[in-house]
Amino acid sequence: MKHWRIDDVPWDRFDRTKLDPQIVALVKAAAMVERNGIDYGTYLNRVFVDDPDFRAAADRWSLEEVQHGDTLGRWAALADPEWDFEAAFARYKAGYHLPLLDADNSVRGSRTGELIARCMVESGTSSYYSALGDAAEEPVLRELCRLIAADEFRHFKLFYDHMRRYLKRERISVLQRLRIAASRIGESEDDELAYAFYCGNAPPEAAYQHKQAIAGYMSRAMTMYRYRHLERAVGMIMKAIGLPPRGRIFAVAARGAWWLMCTRRAKFTRVVEAAPSPIAGC
Ligand SMILES: [Fe+2]
Ligand SMILES: [Fe+2]
Repeated sequence: MKHWRIDDVPWDRFDRTKLDPQIVALVKAAAMVERNGIDYGTYLNRVFVDDPDFRAAADRWSLEEVQHGDTLGRWAALADPEWDFEAAFARYKAGYHLPLLDADNSVRGSRTGELIARCMVESGTSSYYSALGDAAEEPVLRELCRLIAADEFRHFKLFYDHMRRYLKRERISVLQRLRIAASRIGESEDDELAYAFYCGNAPPEAAYQHKQAIAGYMSRAMTMYRYRHLERAVGMIMKAIGLPPRGRIFAVAARGAWWLMCTRRAKFTRVVEAAPSPIAGC
């Protein structure tokens, strides 16, 4: 059972006067990545082929991710009536393929590793939608972000609980878990988000340039965050790795993550400002 449906969103409260074009551009990208969740559900079904409980949970999870995409896409089309979600998503599907779609075993080396990687993604999405909802002034988007963030926190718990179960069998070390977590976080600058930002915001005739697209996306997305959003994500990440999500190590990690985000944001902003493109200008 989904926890909410698209029609539960108070669409009649949409207020065009409260739109922020930077946020509209981010929502277009998010809509496509989320809708693509069905492919990840297929992959998880293969990796956990003999675990019917997890497979059923993964199927429900992927349907919720697709709903996030459909709902965000509907909001973006309201915000920008010229925007064609179906056409943009078709471009995205044609040009971007999950690199793990053909794998039968987890690309993380173990099922525990796979579930840790999923925890990283859900830590990121839960903090991101919390941040986006707090930054947005448009009331429907604020409510939508609240609903989606609540799902993402639940998704984290789902993958975390299954990860603990597999950890008892596979017993991978904290250091290995740390390595998997770091590599999945690093992948956020790969093509998945960058290409979605490009397809959502650049005209079809514009060439895709990864450096421009990821800078366009990240410079805007990172601007949404306040310290409290990142701090919560760091706590979740540490919990998934097996480190205490409070205390001195946590405080140092949270401050370090904030410094890193500010540094990266400044770097991405410089890229956008130095080389204006259809993406940078959208
Ligand atoms: Fe989602
Ligand atoms: Fe999620």
